[in-house]
Amino acid sequence: MEQSKIVNKRILSGIQPSGILHIGNYFGAIRQHIELQKDNDCLYFIANYHAMTTISDRKLLRENSLMVAVDYLALGFDAERAALFMQSDVPEVAELAWMLSTVTPMGLLERAHSYKDKISKGISPTHGLFAYPMLMAADILIYDSEIVPVGKDQKQHLEITRDVAEKFNVVHGQVLVVPDAYILPDVAVVPGVDGQKMSKSYGNTIEMFCTYKQMKNKVMRIVTDSTPLEAPKDPDKSVIVDLYKLVASPEELQEMRQKFLAGGYGYGHAKKELLEKLWAYFEPHRRRRQELENNLDYVSQVLRKGAEKARERAQIVMDRVRDAVGLLRYHQAK
Ligand code: ADP
Ligand code: TRP
Repeated sequence: MEQSKIVNKRILSGIQPSGILHIGNYFGAIRQHIELQKDNDCLYFIANYHAMTTISDRKLLRENSLMVAVDYLALGFDAERAALFMQSDVPEVAELAWMLSTVTPMGLLERAHSYKDKISKGISPTHGLFAYPMLMAADILIYDSEIVPVGKDQKQHLEITRDVAEKFNVVHGQVLVVPDAYILPDVAVVPGVDGQKMSKSYGNTIEMFCTYKQMKNKVMRIVTDSTPLEAPKDPDKSVIVDLYKLVASPEELQEMRQKFLAGGYGYGHAKKELLEKLWAYFEPHRRRRQELENNLDYVSQVLRKGAEKARERAQIVMDRVRDAVGLLRYHQAK
């Protein structure tokens, strides 16, 4: 599905607060989340329960979670149109995850690539990590979400969500809305300074909210080949050009490509141009971020409002689900 065709839908997505956000996260996910808020009913949350599978330091989890909220707002999240909230402000997701797990075959989770990948990276294989897709399914299903914009790496988690929702509906009646994934376009795979996919786990990221000096250091580290300065260079094989594409106008991009092809233009020159564009691109966001950091009360207010909206929605679905499965209820939370 093309993004321009997505209108009037219930959109949901989550982002883990597992570290400082980088330009791969922005161009690959956040920018699309922000775009979708214009024509849709969007809920975005900070997956702090999920982050507990990898972060056990209380202070770090708190800081990272708040930082993601500040970054989203600085990058254009509009609190008037959409809701931003902490996953843990809707604790009912853990209850729904349990209910979903009662209809989920073990094999479905055993086949999850992300679990296997994480274990191979040395993350301890806890039950939480194994059950990660159950909580993710609950995150989605608890709001009757219709569309879930995610990167390709999350595709299987969405398939698991759909399978589980269908199975639940077979067992308990039509209670859950089966969502569609919207896989963010491949063009958005942003390379890191070493040429691999940019990712925190590869240590090859460029952060948007860092100092000029830090950004300069990262940009200067971008891998290049040993073509001499005077020789022509292939713009289609350059990480510099790939990143420049994200922040430059089509004319500016064309100009840089020409310079590559003409020769007499070194990688050092190209890196300087990239650095200036990259820095300027995020300048308004950087300013906004500074304002937000000085006004954390406003950030809390946004998160409170988002949590209220999300919880209200979740309660409607949970009442329906509890009733469908036959749970008796004698105590209502005030
Ligand atoms: P990381 O790989 O740095 O741990 P995450 O897995 O937390 O990043 O990704 C958060 C979101 O950003 C996901 O939707 C993911 O698809 C997107 N994303 C991360 N890195 C990139 C990248 N290099 N290019 C495009 N999108 C990315
Ligand atoms: N697993 C997602 C990631 O690592 C984050 C996430 C958790 C999520 N729950 C979700 C994304 C629900 C979309 C919908 O990127």
